[in-house]
Amino acid sequence: MSIEPQGANVFPEALSTREAWLEPFDWYREMRENAPVHYDPERNAWDVFRYADVKRILGDDATFSVDPENAPDFVSPKMDGQEMAISSMVSEDPPRHDELRDVVDDSFRPQAIRELKPRIRDLTGELLDNALDREGEIDLVEEFAYPLPVMVIAELLGVPVEERDQFKEWSDALIAAPSDPESGEAFAERQIELFQEMSGYFMQLIKERRQDPREDLISTIANAEIDGEPLPPENMVGLCILLLVAGNITTTNLIANAMRCFGENDLFETYTEAGVVPTPTIEEVLRYRSPVQAMSRFTTEDVTIGDESIEAGEVVVAWMGSANRDNRQFPEGDSFVPDRSPNQHIGFGYGAHYCLGAPLARLEADVALSELFGRLADVEIPDTTLQPTRSSFIYGVDSLPIRYATV
Ligand code: HEM
Repeated sequence: MSIEPQGANVFPEALSTREAWLEPFDWYREMRENAPVHYDPERNAWDVFRYADVKRILGDDATFSVDPENAPDFVSPKMDGQEMAISSMVSEDPPRHDELRDVVDDSFRPQAIRELKPRIRDLTGELLDNALDREGEIDLVEEFAYPLPVMVIAELLGVPVEERDQFKEWSDALIAAPSDPESGEAFAERQIELFQEMSGYFMQLIKERRQDPREDLISTIANAEIDGEPLPPENMVGLCILLLVAGNITTTNLIANAMRCFGENDLFETYTEAGVVPTPTIEEVLRYRSPVQAMSRFTTEDVTIGDESIEAGEVVVAWMGSANRDNRQFPEGDSFVPDRSPNQHIGFGYGAHYCLGAPLARLEADVALSELFGRLADVEIPDTTLQPTRSSFIYGVDSLPIRYATV
C-alpha cells in the first residue's frame, strides 16, 4: 500500500456514497462484465476489474511500476516545492525494492512469526479481559480489533506500548481520504506535517538503537547495511512508518470483516461451539471482503489490457476486491463459502510486493477470532448504520457493535 500521502484522490465517483463503499460488489460485477478495463476521465486513471488482468498488473512490475515518477501527470504532494523525502519498498521497483525488503524479510518469515503466537495470545487475552468485563455489548473495532495489531507491531518494532494512542492517530490519518475535493490541498499539507512528525519520532529511536541495539525491528533497520553502507535516513524512516501503518488498519478490518461475514452467514453459533475459526474460513474472508480493495500502478510503456490500449505514463488502478469476486476464477464468486478450496485470492496482493506481513496478519486473525469465540456465546450484531473506513483503498468499518454473553 502506498504510505506516501495520496495527493490525487483515487476514488471513483461510483463508490463515493457510504452505501456504495460499504458494498461495492454490484458495481464491480457490472464493470467486470461491461467495462473490465475502463478509463475514468475524472480521475485520469484506468480501472481494471477482472482477476486475470489484475494479477497480470501486480505480477509485471517492469510494465506496471509503483514509482509515480513514471506518470508525469500524476499529482504527488509537495510542500514548498519539495517532494516528500521518505521512501520505502512499496514505492520502489526492483532491484532497489528487493534490497529494502531484504532488510526485514527474515523477521517476517512464517517460522519467525510462529514463535510470536504465545505473546499474541497473551496480548489478545489482556485486551479481552478488559473489554469483556461486563456482559452485553462492545464495539469490537474500538475495543479489540483496532488495539490488537497496534500492540503487536509496537512490540515488534520496539516502540513503547504507552505510545500506541499516538500510533493510532498516525495510522488513521495516513490512510484517510480527503473528505471533499476542495479540502484536498489542506489535506495534503496535513499529511506532510504528519510525515514530518513521524519522521522526527522514528529518527530519534533509530539514533538510540544505533548506540544501543536491542532485539527489535528498529534495531535491525537502524543497523542494516546495503553494499556495506547503512541505509539512507529516508529509507530507515520509510521502513519504520511502513511497518507501523501497513499492518494496523488492514488487520483490524480483517477481524471486523470476518465478523460481518459470520453474522451474515449465521456462523456465530458454529464458532462459539467450536471455540475456533478454521483457517480456510479466514482465507475466504480475505477473498470475500478484502481489507485492501485496490492498488495503483504507473505504466512504463504502451500496453494492451483486454481490448484497451493504455499509453506509457498512465495511472492504472488494480481492483483486487473485484478480482477476488470474479466468477472466472472463483465459482459463485459472490457467495461466502467458509471452506472454499482452492482459494487463490489476491487479498495480500501478488508478485514482488506481495504482503510482507501476510503470515503475521493470518496469525493475528487466527488467535484473535479463536480467543474471542472461546469466550463468547449468543453472539449477534445489532441493527446499526455501519460507516465504512474512510480510505480510498482500505475496506472495512469504523465501528462494529456486537452483543454477546460470556461463557
Ligand atoms: C489482513 C491484513 C493485511 C492485508 C489485507 C494486507 C495487504 C497487503 C497488500 C494487498 C499489499 C500489496 C501492496 C501492493 O501491491 O502495492 C501489502 C504489502 C505490504 N504489507 Fe500488508 N497487509 C496486511 C497486513 C500486514 C501486516 C500485519 C504487515 C506488517 C506488519 C504488512 C506489511 C506489508 C508491507 C511491508 C508491504 C509492502 C511489501 C512490498 O512492497 O514488498 N501487511 N499488504
